[in-house]
Parts: sequence; structure tokens; C-alpha cells
Amino acid sequence: MAIRKIAQIGHPVLRQIARDVSREELASPAVQAFIDDLVETMRDADGAGLAAIQIYEPIRICAIEVRNNPRYPYKPQIPLTILVNPTLTAVGDEQFDNNEGCLSVPNLRGTVRRFVHLRCQAWDRAGAPIDEVVHGLKAGTYQHEVDHLLGTIFVDRADPTTFSTWAEFDRHHKAAFVEKAQALVARVGS
Ligand code: NI
Repeated sequence: MAIRKIAQIGHPVLRQIARDVSREELASPAVQAFIDDLVETMRDADGAGLAAIQIYEPIRICAIEVRNNPRYPYKPQIPLTILVNPTLTAVGDEQFDNNEGCLSVPNLRGTVRRFVHLRCQAWDRAGAPIDEVVHGLKAGTYQHEVDHLLGTIFVDRADPTTFSTWAEFDRHHKAAFVEKAQALVARVGS
């Protein structure tokens, strides 16, 4: 396993549309080793998620995991999840304001409207079907990662008047956001 370099905003790879992965490709040792690297790189950088395109492979795979994350201490835990060829469908039209950062966007956070309830259909890394409905902050993380596979970065969707550095977010906005986020978690479960 190896820690890969993470593409930074401005690199054209982040604007590519990732391509689907075939079952044969997914089962190959090369793609399985790539997924191990994706997970290791995400963990090394304390990410809540990482899309393959962020480590310069424009294929439709992303990793998501939240486990006592120091970047997002208020996020509920998410067990390690690998999404292959994911498609997301909003369930209902309820949205919330999610404050996001990204490993490809140094020292910037911003507020993005995200769906509260979301159906995710994908394969896991073994090719087994995933069909789940996710909610709240977890749904926000799923939308952020799957956006990467479409060449979209959270800054594209964010209200630019909400942009802040991580330090200024902590100083001026974190308390209010965490209070709202915890109310959402209490209501919808994650
Ligand atoms: Ni990101």
C-alpha cells in the first residue's frame, strides 16, 4: 500500500468526468490495490472521504469513512465504505446547509445546500450491490464525494459569502454550525 499525492484545485484532473469501472476491472489486483491506496491516503490526510479522481485516477470509485475525525469532530461515525459506480437520487426535496471542506481545496470551507435524504446505489469493492438510503451529514458527505466523480468541487456549489479559512471557521462559525448539525443528526439519525 502507498500514500498517494492528492490533486489540488486547479489541476485539470479534478474537472474530468470519471468513467465507470467494469466488474472485470474491479476484480483485478491492480484496482483492488488502488482501492487500498485510496483508503490509506484518505486516512493519512484525515479525510472523511476521498474520490479516485483526487488521486489522479478518473474512475468512478470513492471511499468514505468517519472515525473520530479531527477535521470534522462533530460528524457522526461512518464505517469504511467503498462506492463503485455510485448513483445518488434525492429522496424528497428537503435540503440543509452543510459546511464543507475538501482535501483538494487547501484551507477553505464553505456552506453548500445538500439533500437531507438520499438513495445511493453502487457496488462495494467486491462488486456486491449497495442500495441504501442515507441521511443528514452522512448524505452530505456522499453528495460531496460523488460530485468529485462528475468533475464538481464543493466551491462550485457553495455560497461564496460563506467562504472561510479553517481557523476563521473555528473562531466565528463553528459553534453555530455544530449546534444546527447536532439538531439535524438528532432528527434524522446521521
Ligand atoms: Ni472533496
